[in-house]
Parts: sequence; C-alpha cells; structure tokens
Amino acid sequence: MCGIVGYTGTKEAYPIVITGLKRLEYRGYDSTGVALLNNGLKVYKKKGRVSDLEEAIIGMDLHAHTGIGHTRWATHGEPSDVNAHPHTSASGKLAMIHNGIIENYTQLKKELTNKGYVFTSETDTEVLLNFIEDIKENNQCDLEEAVRVALKRVTGAYVILLLDSENPDTIIAARKGSPLVIGVGKGEHFLGSDASPMLEYTKEVVYVNDYELAIVRPDELILKNLGNEKITPFVTRLDMELAAIEKGGYDHFMLKEIFEQPSTIHDCLRGRLDAAAGTITMKGIQDNIQHFINANRIIIVACGTSWHAALLAEYIIEELCRIPVEVEYASEFRYRNPIINKGDIIIAISQSGETADTLVAIERAKENGAIIFGIVNVVGSSIARISNGGAYTHAGPEIGVASTKAFTGQLAVLTMMALKIAKEKGTISDERYTDLLFELEAVPEKVDAILKTAEQLKTIALKYKGAADALYLGRGYNFPIALEGALKLKEISYIHAEGYPAAEMKHGPIALVDENLPVVFIATKDSYHEKIVSNIQEIKARKGKVIAIITEGDDLIPGMADDVFYVPPADEIIAPMLSTIPMQLLSYYMGIARGVDVDKPRNLAKSVTVE
Ligand code: G6P
Repeated sequence: MCGIVGYTGTKEAYPIVITGLKRLEYRGYDSTGVALLNNGLKVYKKKGRVSDLEEAIIGMDLHAHTGIGHTRWATHGEPSDVNAHPHTSASGKLAMIHNGIIENYTQLKKELTNKGYVFTSETDTEVLLNFIEDIKENNQCDLEEAVRVALKRVTGAYVILLLDSENPDTIIAARKGSPLVIGVGKGEHFLGSDASPMLEYTKEVVYVNDYELAIVRPDELILKNLGNEKITPFVTRLDMELAAIEKGGYDHFMLKEIFEQPSTIHDCLRGRLDAAAGTITMKGIQDNIQHFINANRIIIVACGTSWHAALLAEYIIEELCRIPVEVEYASEFRYRNPIINKGDIIIAISQSGETADTLVAIERAKENGAIIFGIVNVVGSSIARISNGGAYTHAGPEIGVASTKAFTGQLAVLTMMALKIAKEKGTISDERYTDLLFELEAVPEKVDAILKTAEQLKTIALKYKGAADALYLGRGYNFPIALEGALKLKEISYIHAEGYPAAEMKHGPIALVDENLPVVFIATKDSYHEKIVSNIQEIKARKGKVIAIITEGDDLIPGMADDVFYVPPADEIIAPMLSTIPMQLLSYYMGIARGVDVDKPRNLAKSVTVE
C-alpha cells in the first residue's frame, strides 16, 4: 500500500521519480505527489493517478537532481489534494512521504496541537513529520538525529523518505514493517518500495531492514540502526529485467500475466521437477525435511488469493502427506491467541512477501518457537527474509492488482512440496507419485491449450456482463477454485459474487437462484463428479443459468448447462491449476465488458502493508 520513490544523483530527478511511480501504482492510486529539492523545496501533488499529476504540472519548474515521489492508498483521510503526499512541515523546510500507519498519531497530534501546531491534512504522516521537525528544533540537532529520536516514540509501520531544504542532495529514509529498496549506482542512488523504479539504471540493491535508517547522498549510502550505530549495507544483485514489468503488447498487465502462465509455471517447475528421474529438488524442503516428516501439524497463514492457495494446499497435504493442516486468515491468526506448539510448522504464502498481516503473524509464531516456511514470489521480500526456509514461486513481477500467475505458481510449489514430503514420509505409493510427477510436468502445456480457446470466455462474458450477482460452486479440490473465481469476479468486474462448496449451496445461496443468476460450476472429472452433476440439476430446476467448466470428453454436462468451457483431462489434484485459468479469463473479459480498469480496480491495492 502506497508506493514510494526517491532519487539523488546527477540526472534529472523528476523523470526518474514519475516513471518509478507509474511502476508502483499497483500499490495504490488515490493520489500522487512529488517533492523536488533545488534551491528550496518544490512540492506538486494531486488526487488521482500518476498521469493526472503529470498532466497538471506540464510546464512547471521540475528541474532538480534530488527528489521523492508517492502514490497513495488512502488510510487516514479521504483521497484529496490536501491529504496527498508529500507533506511539508510547519516551517516549510521539510517534506516527507510515508507508506504505512502511525498508530499513536492521535497522541502525538494532541501534544503538537498543545504546542500550537496546526495541521492542514487529516493524515498521520503530517503529524509524524511535524513531530520530527519539533524535535529537530527543540534539540537543535540535525534531521537524521531528529528522525532517530522521533521513531523511538512511534508505534506502527512505516517507510519514510524525507527531504530537508537546508541539506541539499540528501534523502533520509527509515523503515519498519513496510518495504524499502535502495539501488546503488555510480554517483547516484535510487529508492523504491520495490526495485522496479531503478531497473534500467542499476542491478545492485540494498534491502533495508526494520529499524534501520539510511542517509542517502549521490556518492554515499550510510545505514544505521536507531541506536546510531553504523551497519554495513549488504548489496544484492537483482535478477530482473525491464521487459518483465512492461505490458509487452498486451492491453493490460492482467491479460499478459494470465497468458504468461505456461512459462511461469514452467519456470517454477524447472530445475526442481524431473518426472523421468522421479525426483523433486527443493532445497528449502530438503533442509527442513525432518521437521516436515515429524510435524504434528502445519498451519498455513495467508490473505486474499494466497489464502485460496492455502486452502487447496490443506486438501493436497492432508491427502498425500497425512499431516493435519489448518488454514488461517493472517489477520485473524495474529490477533487471537492461537495455540502454537514448539515444532509446529507455519507456512506463510504471499505473492508480495510484504502483506502486513501475514508478516506479523509469522513474526509472532516465530517468537513462539514455530518453524516458518515462506512461499513467496518477490525475491528478497520481508516474508522471504524472516522465514527459516522457503520456496520461491518464480512467477516474475506481477503488476495487475488481481493475482493470477502468482496463484498458479503457488499451487505448483505447494503440490511439489506435498509430493516431496509424501515421498520422503512414505505416505504415497510409488505409482501415484510417478503419475503425479508426470501430471505436474504436463501442466504448462495444458494451460497453453486452454489459453488458445480464451475467446470462448469472452463470448460467455458478454452474455452475462449485466448480471448483478454470481455464484461459484465447486467440490473437493475445486472448492478453493470456486472461492478464487468469485473473488476474481468481484475484484475485476464489481459484480457481487460468492464462492461456495457445491453441496453447501443448499443451505442458503440456493435462495438466490432465479433465471437471472449465473452459476459457475467448476465441474471437472473427479471423484465427486456425479455429485456435482446433481448440484447442476438442482440449479437448473430453479431456472438458474449454468456456466460449467468441464473436462474434455464430458458428454453429460453439456446437455444441462447453458454454457460450457472445456479444460484438458488431469488428475483431480492437478486439475485446479487448469480450472482456475478460465476463472481468471472470465473475470478479465467481464471487467473489460463493464469498462473497469482491470489492472487497477477501485479501492484495491496489490500489496497491503497496513493491517
Ligand atoms: C491484496 C491483493 C490480492 C492478494 C492479497 C494478498 O488483497 O489485491 O491480489 O492476493 O493482497 O497478497 P500477498 O502479496 O500476501 O499474496
């Protein structure tokens, strides 16, 4: 939530900052702002997208070699020009941008108001900034010291970047709980919520840790802890190319990312799965294999789409590994008082690796002695770094706000993990193990075949684009896919949708069924097939419109359903990786048909770094 960018060096700062903000817009798009340092501070900000600000300031004096920029997902205060970042301090000498939430800002605001401070915005950011300025003036110290003192009083999460008009060329940055990457160039430094703003300039980056403060100048990067002790920056080499964050000829990132799945799933399996040799090589699992074999319980924590991957993993791990699995919403798990026994394994699933609730949930569990295993897409992210072991999904940068290729990457990793553990534990027969390895290896090709028939879903979408509600039903391994299908439709088309276990539908949602309600059945051939056929009949008997995702060769369901979409045959454990593809495409085409900005649907953000 909220994207931050900074630059200091010899180049013009504004083009770098504004381009960086466009790449970080997936983090929020309620307002945009930049602060430039050139003989004083110049701040330009506006409600709306980055392009709105860009247009509004054409012709203004944008010359500077040091600048910061912000794209906002509103928390405190509605989206407006005045609540937009950067904020300036009472003296006008400091400007600050912030990603996160200052939880004790009301207390700080009261103290400052009593001292005569007046606030123009409703934000917690303006409070923190003036708190810093107040310390700077009272303690007669420099900005760096004031930030350090202030942050010791602050509770909450933040990444802040500050400019001081009396200190040219310098950006002061600090982090706790929200991500901050610093790119190291020749005589220049770049700052970002992720590495995308700096990709074409440098591959050398430093991931700043919690409670660290950075003093960034063109030729110098100083890292310190809040105790003012210097820390040696650990420089990592980025393995990401600019092309990975561009649309590459597609109309939208979401469509590009859907169509990338044959290769992203292949990349995820590559070097790990060798069906012919009968092996799965996953170092993170191998290093922890005894823990997995001996585990009494696995708890999986996640949010959103990642939670749906977790639910499917519960079905797969319990079936193949015979280990009890519990699936928890990270936001619930972290606030209740869960029983965590020493040696419990906690799996955290997260595309971004930065989701605040998931991150804090595993921090707490780690303190209680649990082993943390991270399944993460963004390399070097906070969840990846805090985990005891893990496996990357290798889906590449996912820019579209609704998760697609990261989800299938998660399913591929989780299935490989389950197979590897089951094999080592001896809970799977050799024959089933080999079959599933070959099945998994064939997924990219089958996904490719599905994508070749994508246009059929466009036709279905156009037929149902006027729907007010939709119901998604699936049983067994396809139940989590029903939940994910409904979430995708809600996010991307704003049609109200609910996912349900197909049989449970009789205990409530069936009351909604009439001739206007589209009901999407994920009804691929599996052990529940006859049962789901009966559920389809129950919907048809009440005149509901049935859209069925079925296996090639199914000659029963086409006679009952209003619309069908075929996917290639697959083992029931593997089939969800295929049946989720039409769910993504249906939502995409519905969203487009309804005029939604599918890459940036309203109110959502890709990386939710606030609770
Ligand atoms: C947001 C995104 C979802 C995502 C969820 C969890 O809500 O819009 O697409 O599934 O966060 O994010 P994570 O990065 O932890 O997987």
